[in-house]
Amino acid sequence: MKKQRTLSIIKPDAMTSKNSGNIISFIEEKNFNIVAQKKIMLTKKQAEEFYNIHKDRPFFGELVDFMISGPISVQVLEAENAVTYYREIMGSTNPEEAEQNTIRKLFGKNIQCNAVHGSDSLENAVKEIKFFFSELELIN
Ligand code: CMP
Repeated sequence: MKKQRTLSIIKPDAMTSKNSGNIISFIEEKNFNIVAQKKIMLTKKQAEEFYNIHKDRPFFGELVDFMISGPISVQVLEAENAVTYYREIMGSTNPEEAEQNTIRKLFGKNIQCNAVHGSDSLENAVKEIKFFFSELELIN
């Protein structure tokens, strides 16, 4: 099967609690290749653009404020079936409902502070990777 790429974000809650290293180790143990990675701080405008798909949801404002409350770490992950596989190891959006031994169960606090983001489709993965990384930053 052909390798696929997906976009991962370690969110401000997991960065603040110093779990980014633990999350990266977890991802590597699951056999993902980390193609690219950087630590950044989003502006309000960038966070609103990234989460534009949720702009009509009641939690949109809180989500944007949370995502700009501290640094985040963004990764491009590569594996077979990467989009679905990463969502599997992340666990449900709400850590309380997440399966045991998933990232959100282990490191998430609540539905907003849920440690990580992962692209929800291959189409969005392509868009989200482009949002954060230039071609030059993507090792082949
Ligand atoms: P993420 O995978 O980054 O995609 C959108 C985010 O919105 C999601 O993770 C959650 O962190 C957040 N979210 C989803 N539902 C709610 C909710 N009901 N209240 C607050 N935040 C939410």
